[in-house]
Amino acid sequence: SRTQDRTLETRPRTLPAVDEFHNEPDTDLALPANQEWARGIYRHAASLEGQAAGLDTLQGGLISDDLGPIDGRIEIDSIVEKMRRGGKKWAARGAEGRGKILLKAAAELGVRRGEIMSVMMQEAGKTLAESDPEISEAIDFARYYASQAVEMEQLNGAKFTPVGLTMVAPPWNFPVAIPTGSVTSALAAGSAVIIKPAPQVRRCAAVMVEALWAAGVPKDVLHLADVSEGELGRALISHQGVDRVILTGAFETAALFRSWRADLPVLAETSGKNALVITPSADIDLAVADLVKSAFGHAGQKCSAASLVILVGSVAKSERFWRQLEDAVNTLDVGWPDARPETTMNPIIEPPGAKLRQGLTELGAGEEWLAEPRQLDDTERLWSPGVRLGVRPGSTFHQTEYFGPLLGVMTARTLQDAVEYQNSVEYGLTAGIHSLDPDEVSYWLDHVHAGNLYVNRGITGAIVRRQPFGGWKKSSVGPTAKAGGPNYLFGLGSLTSAPVNR
Ligand code: SER
Repeated sequence: SRTQDRTLETRPRTLPAVDEFHNEPDTDLALPANQEWARGIYRHAASLEGQAAGLDTLQGGLISDDLGPIDGRIEIDSIVEKMRRGGKKWAARGAEGRGKILLKAAAELGVRRGEIMSVMMQEAGKTLAESDPEISEAIDFARYYASQAVEMEQLNGAKFTPVGLTMVAPPWNFPVAIPTGSVTSALAAGSAVIIKPAPQVRRCAAVMVEALWAAGVPKDVLHLADVSEGELGRALISHQGVDRVILTGAFETAALFRSWRADLPVLAETSGKNALVITPSADIDLAVADLVKSAFGHAGQKCSAASLVILVGSVAKSERFWRQLEDAVNTLDVGWPDARPETTMNPIIEPPGAKLRQGLTELGAGEEWLAEPRQLDDTERLWSPGVRLGVRPGSTFHQTEYFGPLLGVMTARTLQDAVEYQNSVEYGLTAGIHSLDPDEVSYWLDHVHAGNLYVNRGITGAIVRRQPFGGWKKSSVGPTAKAGGPNYLFGLGSLTSAPVNR
């Protein structure tokens, strides 16, 4: 029995063992006390409006565009040097010493959940419902990587050497969870980290970094560099003292970084063009609910988002499907979440660039709008959700990642055709099927090419350890390593076996 097994256990008990890792629960907003807490978050978010991002409160040498190119480069050299020294001391603490601090960091993020959510809602425009799980995920990452590093150090006779100074270049769409994941993975593995936040969400990065510092991560081990991807960003990212870059962003950004420095070791989670297949055996109501959430959650601004749905066979003639889809899309309440709590679809992060604007306004051959996107105010950030019909295999819409509130509907004669359409894109990040037929599901699982496969659920919202996240093809760059999964830390150092006597 398990009780007897435990007497054989040799693992130290100071950190939770991996098999005791649990995912942090999201806040239950059905509880009146939590509703009161949520009202406080809205008030705090509103009070942040118009305030400066507050990065000047961060101590410890600030690399910023304000320095100008010459002073900026001198500052970069000195910070890189300082961080390399700090990283050596950090590595020497061992996985357990580092892990203890990361567990404190997880606790600190939990204590600051409401404060950080306010910043996310105000700065990134996220809804409360999308912000709360980000904190849970950030906590999960910190705890999970801490426990993974301890586990790795206990591999018999093996020695793990961290890669060294790590640059983290996170995206703006998950402005807390993804940076925390990248930063804590490198910290757990024993490297010092410089984080260069996405310019749209600098304050989110700052409050996260402050939580980690408060937990005891030293300032010469974690540094925030507030630079753009202009001259100073390039000087920093391509600096010879940087040993690894962890990027989450567009595939083109990874290519840009490598064009700056050919031997730059980049570990990147990049773009996606993801589809959900619905077969005639599916529970249509559930399928539509999952589809709409996956397509329009955070206004579709997720690399994991469903930007295509592929209807197999008779689903395209199902009155129930069309009625449910139209009703669900029309029911989305588009607005500014910090001002209107009832908002279910938030603004896009900034006025649409050329590609997204094209997707929002132009139809391809044979396509028509089921719901035409409308610009709802003069900020150009608030758009109603767009659903286009008649997307053809090989068309621009089939192949292009728009990163916005756009869903394209394709039809397929058979499940085989649907899988073919899913696979014939450059990316391979997430994919889903709604089907209640086990043979269909098993065929699909055997043939679809994507990193994260979801059956009868939405295709966004991977969960640390349960659904490690990362893709194939142009959805990743560098070692195949999944965030929140057991192999991720192996990409952040070298594992060498000690000599063995036999
Ligand atoms: N981890 C996110 C998701 O699964 C994407 O980055 O939706």
